[in-house]
Amino acid sequence: MNYARIVGTGGYLPEKVLTNADLEQLIDTTADWIVERTGVEERHIAAPDETTCDLAEKASRLALQAAGLEPADIDLIILGTTTPDHVFPSVATQLQHRLGCYGGPAFDVQAVCTGFVYALDIANRFIRTDAAKRALVVGADTFTRIINWKDRGTCILFGDGAGAVVLEAADEPGIIDCQLGADGRYKKLLWVPAGVSSGYEQTREEAAFVEMRGSEVFKVAVTTLKDIAERILSAHQMTVADVDWLIPHQANRRILAATAKRLGLPEERMVDCVRTHGNTSAASVPLALDVAVRDGRIQRGQTLLLEGFGGGFTWGAALVKY
Ligand code: ACO
Repeated sequence: MNYARIVGTGGYLPEKVLTNADLEQLIDTTADWIVERTGVEERHIAAPDETTCDLAEKASRLALQAAGLEPADIDLIILGTTTPDHVFPSVATQLQHRLGCYGGPAFDVQAVCTGFVYALDIANRFIRTDAAKRALVVGADTFTRIINWKDRGTCILFGDGAGAVVLEAADEPGIIDCQLGADGRYKKLLWVPAGVSSGYEQTREEAAFVEMRGSEVFKVAVTTLKDIAERILSAHQMTVADVDWLIPHQANRRILAATAKRLGLPEERMVDCVRTHGNTSAASVPLALDVAVRDGRIQRGQTLLLEGFGGGFTWGAALVKY
């Protein structure tokens, strides 16, 4: 049986940085309040003419470079996003065109902040069943495009970015397992009411932007992130003691701290980019992975636990031998 192994990672954050001091000029808040409640100090914002595909391309080229591969080596592209450049075609097909590696399947996955973990699971299955040899798996979002900058409960949290990994078929794991889940009953805790089929012309102008019931999202996120970690570890007769690095969705510093505490995992073994990235939706997990690979914290042979959680709600965990 084939396994899929991560052979390269890449990440990209747009140049423009929006600090908490900048937000103090926009909304009724203080930098201290934002740091204390969320841990975010700054986030990156895509330029007006910079799209999700632009971010995805930059992260993908870096991941290919790290893998020592050319675009032509890729035979599958799966991209998690909630903020595609167009209603259609998908960002993945346009990324394929930018890279010039035509012919293999390329498609987007919509699972909001869990988009990358969903995409990773699907790509893993393609490789394990011999339907692909080398896959580019991307999480990319210009999430701030769907933020209401008058809503102080949401605009403080989110930023833009992209992260990518290259997966390659291998004799040994690699990806040990991925487990996904969803519960659509939570739709209105975190959603954008407007849409293609529901209509963009809603009665309220704000309907085109993210609406969130923050404290309720917080509670479900913490419980779910703990539960999915324990479930995937116990399925493989492992415990948190076997995990070298937890790479959770970078939702909020307090969510990360509460998750680590409930799991009994020392925070030093958790990758935390919340302070400088904010919540970059589908990009958050691969961006955090790339940061810790490039700064040398993550080493070959270590065991990683990746976790996503997002609107829907959706969630997913991936257990990886790096
Ligand atoms: N500055 C100052 N005050 C604020 C701000 C702000 N930016 N935002 C809200 N407040 C006020 C509220 O109006 C409220 O005032 P009130 O008591 O007078 O009504 C008070 O602060 C407390 O509000 P809460 O919403 O209860 O504050 P909480 O401690 O829950 O923090 C926050 C809000 C930061 C949004 C928190 O709930 C949170 O982080 N939730 C999780 C959200 C999240 O991570 N979402 C994404 C996860 S899933 C995904 O990534 C798609």
